[in-house]
Amino acid sequence: MALRRLLPVGVFAAQVLGAAHPIITPAPSLEDRDQALARREFDPGSYINSVISGLGSDVSSYVISGVPQFFQDFPVGNSVEKSLGIDDDDLKATPTQVLNIPGYANWTDSGWSVRIHGNVFKQPNITREKLDDLANVFLIGVDIDELPENQQNQARNLTSSIFVVQQDDVSVAINFQNDVYVRPNASGGVVNAKGGVQSFELPYNTTTEGDFDAWVTLQNTTGSDGGHLIAGNATSQIQALNVYTNGTNTGNATAYLVPPTGFTIISDIDDILRITKIYDPKEGLLNSFARPFVAWENMPEIYANWSASIDNFHFHYLTTTPEQATRNYMDFIYKTYPLGSFDTRPLNFSDVSATLSIRRALLDKIFQTFPNRKFVLMGDTTNSDVMKDYPQLAKDYPGQVQCIFLRNTTATDSTDLFPYDTSGFEDIDQKQYMFFVHADDLRGADIVGGNCHNTAVVQNVTFGYQGRGFGNEVDSAGNSAHWSWTALCAGLLVTLGQFLL
Ligand SMILES: *[C@@H]1O[C@H](CO)[C@@H](O)[C@H](O)[C@H]1NC(C)=O
Ligand SMILES: *[C@@H]1O[C@H](CO)[C@@H](O)[C@H](O)[C@H]1NC(C)=O
Ligand SMILES: *[C@@H]1O[C@H](CO)[C@@H](O)[C@H](O)[C@H]1NC(C)=O
Ligand SMILES: *[C@@H]1O[C@H](CO)[C@@H](O)[C@H](O)[C@H]1NC(C)=O
Ligand SMILES: *[C@@H]1O[C@H](CO)[C@@H](O)[C@H](O)[C@H]1NC(C)=O
Ligand SMILES: *[C@@H]1O[C@H](CO)[C@@H](O)[C@H](O)[C@H]1NC(C)=O
Ligand SMILES: *[C@@H]1O[C@H](CO)[C@@H](O)[C@H](O)[C@H]1NC(C)=O
Ligand SMILES: *[C@@H]1O[C@H](CO)[C@@H](O)[C@H](O)[C@H]1NC(C)=O
Ligand SMILES: *[C@@H]1O[C@H](CO)[C@@H](O)[C@H](O)[C@H]1NC(C)=O
Ligand SMILES: *[C@@H]1O[C@H](CO)[C@@H](O)[C@H](O)[C@H]1NC(C)=O
Ligand SMILES: *[C@@H]1O[C@H](CO)[C@@H](O)[C@H](O)[C@H]1NC(C)=O
Ligand SMILES: *[C@@H]1O[C@H](CO)[C@@H](O)[C@H](O)[C@H]1NC(C)=O
Repeated sequence: MALRRLLPVGVFAAQVLGAAHPIITPAPSLEDRDQALARREFDPGSYINSVISGLGSDVSSYVISGVPQFFQDFPVGNSVEKSLGIDDDDLKATPTQVLNIPGYANWTDSGWSVRIHGNVFKQPNITREKLDDLANVFLIGVDIDELPENQQNQARNLTSSIFVVQQDDVSVAINFQNDVYVRPNASGGVVNAKGGVQSFELPYNTTTEGDFDAWVTLQNTTGSDGGHLIAGNATSQIQALNVYTNGTNTGNATAYLVPPTGFTIISDIDDILRITKIYDPKEGLLNSFARPFVAWENMPEIYANWSASIDNFHFHYLTTTPEQATRNYMDFIYKTYPLGSFDTRPLNFSDVSATLSIRRALLDKIFQTFPNRKFVLMGDTTNSDVMKDYPQLAKDYPGQVQCIFLRNTTATDSTDLFPYDTSGFEDIDQKQYMFFVHADDLRGADIVGGNCHNTAVVQNVTFGYQGRGFGNEVDSAGNSAHWSWTALCAGLLVTLGQFLL
């Protein structure tokens, strides 16, 4: 049954929330593909019932985690092939492509250790008609034909990057080159490495979902001009090396060699670096699938200023958007914000319950990779995992969290009715965090000095669950949010019905 894979969205939340804690698989595992698919066998009848009963009796648990994330459950494995009526043989002549996600490296006793992560896949040739049908599943209340042409193309582009066939158990070979184009003043203290050219085969083959995520230790090779990589304890600059994947032009990325001490900003993207309106489903889907990405307020200026004024500031962009949508995010970020490393949601975290812990897993990984760096955490109130994880990191890694900045999305957007929980901040020093309304509120924050709260921005935080109309805290505004979500889910069921036919 491949149907579940055809459905995008958070309607699965009702079904899976409350399930046992997900098992996070740290090392690549080469699980048998059939076994993996059997595990995911999907019964549409029980699914529909669970969505409806989930909405009827337990709306608050459906949203307790914050915004139901509609980027769930993209198709994986051979469900894509099934839905397109093709098989591996049909793809034999299709070139293998690689999504290579820019990673970071830390300085260890054996040298620079670089994290290489991404996905290997093939892109089936899908007819335009079929692609439009598939794209329409992701759009609410609008048909792809009704969109302006550039938006139609964007929707088709993203849809085709979702309907790819991941390649499991293949080896990945990479080539490091010191040919990064570093933009003056826009690269967060990044310099091009002088040396380090070398090539590796990754230590593991790709997982069932086509993912790879491995560390490789760089040798100290000599550059053409006689230069070398600088040791991590001999510089505070961030050296960049390009990472090319052998056998394809699609797997280019940059690796950032980040010294043990200094400042790193870990920034979420949706509703903080770009306008998504994830809390308004119809808008959120259009802003994600069809419209060009648009920066939120003057965040690009704020980041450019930080990049220029904070020495060797390392930018790390961390979004829990699924890997398949990563290219759009990277294209936008690198055109708009300082260069930096990236994390998105790997495919083995593709169900909703795992999504709730993926951010923390990715955050733990970078905190543990740089135990002596200080982190600035940027996010917004609509992500329940952000609201929980950011203050918890300040407690779990004492001295490593320099600032937490949270955009209060409700303050500027009355359509954001999602609840959030501020209780994690109760015992955190106000100097360490700030809830803010406009990007300009960040100007007065003194990151390096540790005065993260711009005192001109009044903080009205009451610590606890900020019910915005769900569960026990229903009010008239909340009811309308409840109904818009119910309508959304009903709409998706109709869409699902069309797919079943
Ligand atoms: C720098 O690190 C290397 C490898 O860990 C070590 O051998 C060397 O002694 C360190 N140098 C300094 C100045 O700390
Ligand atoms: C994709 O399929 C169409 C016909 O459906 C064909 O005209 C086109 O050449 C194919 N493209 C590739 C890259 O195979
Ligand atoms: C989507 O568009 C980008 C940029 O134009 C292009 O590089 C990429 O190949 C397209 N992806 C697909 C799957 O068509
Ligand atoms: C990894 O994949 C390659 C083919 O890409 C295969 O030849 C090799 O045996 C695999 N290695 C392991 C350890 O499974
Ligand atoms: C980079 O910043 C310095 C100092 O702010 C400035 O003098 C210089 O013109 C900038 N360079 C570019 C290319 O913007
Ligand atoms: C990758 O390609 C380069 C040349 O482009 C070659 O020198 C290198 O041996 C290849 N690496 C592996 C591990 O196959
Ligand atoms: C590489 O070797 C050069 C020359 O011996 C040395 O100056 C440099 O510190 C080394 N770099 C690293 C990363 O070990
Ligand atoms: C990747 O890098 C290679 C080598 O520089 C280049 O030819 C190719 O166009 C690049 N691919 C993309 C998608 O930019
Ligand atoms: C480098 O990163 C790895 C992987 O996160 C971590 O286990 C290791 O402790 C780090 N090394 C240092 C010296 O910080
Ligand atoms: C967010 O903004 C709303 C509306 O101004 C306000 O009621 C609420 O207290 C703010 N929340 C925080 C945590 O600042
Ligand atoms: C605090 O509440 C006031 C009044 O509702 C509002 O104007 C202000 O934006 C809020 N501050 C924050 C950071 O949300
Ligand atoms: C630029 O950043 C510095 C350091 O964080 C800060 O002091 C200054 O106010 C900022 N200026 C602007 C215009 O954002």
